[in-house]
Amino acid sequence: MPAFKELVFSGVQPTGNLHLGNYLGAIKRFVAMQAQFECLYCVVDLHAITVWQDPAELTRQIREVTAAFLAAGIDPARSVVFNQSQVPQHAELAWIFNCVARLGWLNRMTQFKEKAGKDRENASIGLYDYPVLMAADILAYRATHVPVGEDQKQHLELTRDIAQKFNNDFSAAIQQHGHGEAFFPITEPLIGGPAARVMSLRDGTKKMSKSDPSDYSRINLTDDSDAIAQKVRKAKTDAEPLPSETAGLEKRPEADNLVGIFAALSEASREDVLREYGGAQFSAFKGALVDLAVAKLGPIGAEMKRLVADPGHIDAVLADGAARAEAIAAPNIAAVKDIVGFVRRR
Ligand code: AMP
Ligand code: TRP
Repeated sequence: MPAFKELVFSGVQPTGNLHLGNYLGAIKRFVAMQAQFECLYCVVDLHAITVWQDPAELTRQIREVTAAFLAAGIDPARSVVFNQSQVPQHAELAWIFNCVARLGWLNRMTQFKEKAGKDRENASIGLYDYPVLMAADILAYRATHVPVGEDQKQHLELTRDIAQKFNNDFSAAIQQHGHGEAFFPITEPLIGGPAARVMSLRDGTKKMSKSDPSDYSRINLTDDSDAIAQKVRKAKTDAEPLPSETAGLEKRPEADNLVGIFAALSEASREDVLREYGGAQFSAFKGALVDLAVAKLGPIGAEMKRLVADPGHIDAVLADGAARAEAIAAPNIAAVKDIVGFVRRR
């Protein structure tokens, strides 16, 4: 595999409230990657409309996710912050990938099965095709690294399969046009840390999710200190004190989740947290977790509120990001058109 320039890409959907899982599994890690890599962070509004979105609410959510990126510490001067629909190359490459990806591959996608539920016949074609658009998001920039939560693992495997098949199917043309052995990198998923999968506060076996009907299941980035405190105090636990070793968290999903959240918020490991809190009762541990969560999330929520009050500023950040994103994607898609054999306008 030839060397590709290291580039990070990730996306977040502008649907529903951003929660602690989005923050710890994704956005907090996006911030950290900026020190080491060139990064693109995208508000994926084309993905959002795979299920019905009220138009005015969608507009609001696109700005709110952008505000969350900035409030969490993504620097729009250094990283490219933009929304997907402003860069036409995403949809364009998705069509070409629709003709590379196989029906059998998409039929195996578990997230589609979950989201479509029983009424599969009534799901949008976009919902089915969602992972192909995601591959196009990443590969339009030939991104090499993608930080995401664990729920996106299967989609990233599909991205790798699409890149591989494109590279194989078109290998002669790729060489002929001077791109060497492979046009697309085989993207590395970056999934990890103590909060790759943050669970519901009401049920440690269910993922924390924007779509859970109970607001007590999640901490939203815009929750105030009182709401954070109430939700942590009401979080489901078991009757035992905390163990002193991580092995003692097995089969205790709620304890494991709260310890993982504490670890991620304090940039420590589960082992570190248990070294300090092993033997503690949940009442004491939850008190410390409330203080930590309020200290870390409070300023982000406040900054988000300040930023969304100035939509003109947010829209300017998005426009600047879109222009910079397009400058990277456009030559890549032009090269793809040559490789496929289209006649380009010259
Ligand atoms: P979404 O809101 O579905 O666009 O997700 C945005 C990012 O947050 C993706 O990288 C997800 O993998 C991540 N994410 C969503 N829910 C969770 C969770 N409960 N725990 C960890 N990461 C999550
Ligand atoms: N599917 C991702 C999610 O729901 C969002 C997403 C869209 C994404 N395109 C992407 C993530 C490209 C990483 C890279 O969380």
